[in-house]
Amino acid sequence: MQTSTTSKLLVSDIASSVDRVPSSYIRQISDRPNISDVDIFGDSIPLIDLQELYGPSRANIIHQFAHACSSYSFFQIKNHGVPEKTIERMMTVAREFFHQPESERVKHYSADTKKTTRLSTSFNVGSEKVSNWRDFLRLHCLPIEDFINEWPSHPVSFREITAEYATSVRALVLILLEAISESLGLEKDRVSNTLGKHGQHMALNYYPPCPQPDLTFGLPGHKDPNLITVLLQDEVSGLQVFKEGKWIAVHPIPNTFIVNMGDQMQVISNDKYKSVLHRAVVNSDKERISIPTFYCPSFDAVVGPQQELINEEEDSPAIYRSFTYAEYYEKFWDRALATESCIDTFKISKT
Ligand code: OGA
Ligand code: NI
Repeated sequence: MQTSTTSKLLVSDIASSVDRVPSSYIRQISDRPNISDVDIFGDSIPLIDLQELYGPSRANIIHQFAHACSSYSFFQIKNHGVPEKTIERMMTVAREFFHQPESERVKHYSADTKKTTRLSTSFNVGSEKVSNWRDFLRLHCLPIEDFINEWPSHPVSFREITAEYATSVRALVLILLEAISESLGLEKDRVSNTLGKHGQHMALNYYPPCPQPDLTFGLPGHKDPNLITVLLQDEVSGLQVFKEGKWIAVHPIPNTFIVNMGDQMQVISNDKYKSVLHRAVVNSDKERISIPTFYCPSFDAVVGPQQELINEEEDSPAIYRSFTYAEYYEKFWDRALATESCIDTFKISKT
């Protein structure tokens, strides 16, 4: 019997019935996850222990932040204060969500990138030409009471567990923002103060096993548009970070989060901390779940390089003009290619 894949909205509902990747997922040869471009033995991203952040070694830890943010823009953190139980419950409920019958999941489906709660697939079905081997549930979560009633009500504990997780990760983000602000030589509340009322979104990414993982991506190389991302991943590898011409595989370490800088941090820091390319590859035998928290300015917040990081005389002029995050976010979703960065649109042209 032939199974029709064209009528399916989600890749989860195609994956189990095909032994080849449908043609709409196949990338050109020059644009595939080529194993010889990946550094599997060498470099890894830094791991920062936050245990002593509020003790006598704070200055040393802030120094580690400065190094990690300026050299990698990606690092892992341990002893981060988010309870193990909260993490475990979040991962379990995310898995349960994606294991529900198709009829239950598709109730949340939408291709409208403006919706504050939606299930979708690939990256942006409205603009892309090649699909990606990923489904995702995207949720706005700050303030929680404004959005919680839109979130899925099945599994029955979904809202409670997700709210607990989002609250706990937000507290961690605020600690990270202070440390990052200090590491830039700014007052500790400066970065936080540039974000207006603050925004927090989450994605629950679900990557089903893929019969031909070398032909497609879970997520192609991209930079995050937000300020800072705190990523939780399960025990299956897939994340890769681009550094000096090579992709570095970031293998999961239990009870750590991965933190990366997004485009807004690059603008605020006037290019001191760059937003870095990263991607997710899939594999043929295991599903993979990752849960990024995207922390961002509120849509009305005006973002621009901080005055202290600009010095016209010493040849470090402002690289970007100021803009509202709403303006940026719209450009981000409008691009045809996920790999295109929109930060350049906001650069001040040198005349
Ligand atoms: C993202 C992302 C990486 C991953 O959702 O923006 O980069 O490992 N995810 O799923
Ligand atoms: Ni990303």
